Amino acid sequence: MFTHATMQKAILNNIPDQAWLKDLESRYILVNEAFVAASGLTEQDILGKTPAEVWPTDWGMRYMDTDRTVIASGQRMRYEEQRQGPDGQLHWYDTIKTPMRDLQGMITGTVGISRDITDRKLMEQELLESRTRLRELSAYLQSVREEERTRISRELHDELGQSLTAIRLGLGVMEAQEPAVSEAWRKNLDSLKAITDTTVVAVQRIAADLRPPLLDELGLAATMEWLLESFTSRTGVVHELLLPASPFQYSAEISTALFRIMQEALTNISRHGQATQVVVDLAESDEAVTLKIIDNGRGMDEAARASGKGLGLMGMRERSIMLGGRLDITSRPGAGTRIEVRIPK
Ligand SMILES: Nc1ncnc2c1ncn2[C@@H]1O[C@H](COP(=O)(O)OP(=O)(O)OP(=O)(O)O)[C@@H](O)[C@H]1O
Ligand SMILES: [Mg+2]
Repeated sequence: MFTHATMQKAILNNIPDQAWLKDLESRYILVNEAFVAASGLTEQDILGKTPAEVWPTDWGMRYMDTDRTVIASGQRMRYEEQRQGPDGQLHWYDTIKTPMRDLQGMITGTVGISRDITDRKLMEQELLESRTRLRELSAYLQSVREEERTRISRELHDELGQSLTAIRLGLGVMEAQEPAVSEAWRKNLDSLKAITDTTVVAVQRIAADLRPPLLDELGLAATMEWLLESFTSRTGVVHELLLPASPFQYSAEISTALFRIMQEALTNISRHGQATQVVVDLAESDEAVTLKIIDNGRGMDEAARASGKGLGLMGMRERSIMLGGRLDITSRPGAGTRIEVRIPK
């Protein structure tokens, strides 16, 4: 026949976690095999001793403190701690301590269990690190992309623009030199002039779409006006733009981020929103710049937002976070979408 104590022991030894019972003075009454292995002592050395005698002094004192807290409060405690494991390495433990009561409900000691969660902790840490690295990579890629767009935009504008202007002038000179060669010749020349003119406009548009020169030359407010004008003339969505009374000179990073966020938000409005109106509100306080983009379109549900396929909303949020800011989206089906970005100055 099993005695009560041997049954308890059998159960305790079967769990891989360290487990123990202590009396009111924090003396060990019962410990399992995992506990004995972790301490590096024998069971005989442990029983009747306090944590201060079994573990290195500072941990021992801490365990006695938590025992006292549990006994005084009558409440269960759960905490994570780092200490040396049986292999001499630092391990993470998840520990639960509970008051032990007799039949009358009087506290007679504490019961504890401590689980090695080192693997989970390491995985959490790795996840956190890899998330940070991904965020850094994304910031780097964004900045490389922006530089490249700026360079291509300038080259298109300067190099191609110059050559096209030269061609256009040349055609004008030819026309003046040979006023009346033939009707066919004149027609060809007119058509070349027309093609050159539309190409000049196309190059300017492509260069501006890549990165509006306005952004570097006249700043964010002027570029926002330009973007909204062309948005309205392209889509028919009416806009209202609210700007701070005296626009502050934002850093190139903030201007670029706010501009790109607005560009993506407007693209979304024309692609998904079915809106007739958009309000863009740029404001600043002593600490932060805020940009709100509010449309009266069909709004979106959680599913659309979380579908995870689109990169637009994610990119907007990443840009805000990179500058120490945040992005909030408020939207309900049928009730429009409101995007608010806040970036500290
Ligand atoms: N202003 C809006 N009105 C209604 N729905 C929107 C609006 N903005 C975004 N959505 C919804 O949220 C989804 C995610 O937007 P997101 O910009 O992240 O992706 P996308 O536009 O579909 O693709 P991508 O931007 O990567 O080309 C969209 O597919 C759309 O369903
Ligand atoms: Mg999008």
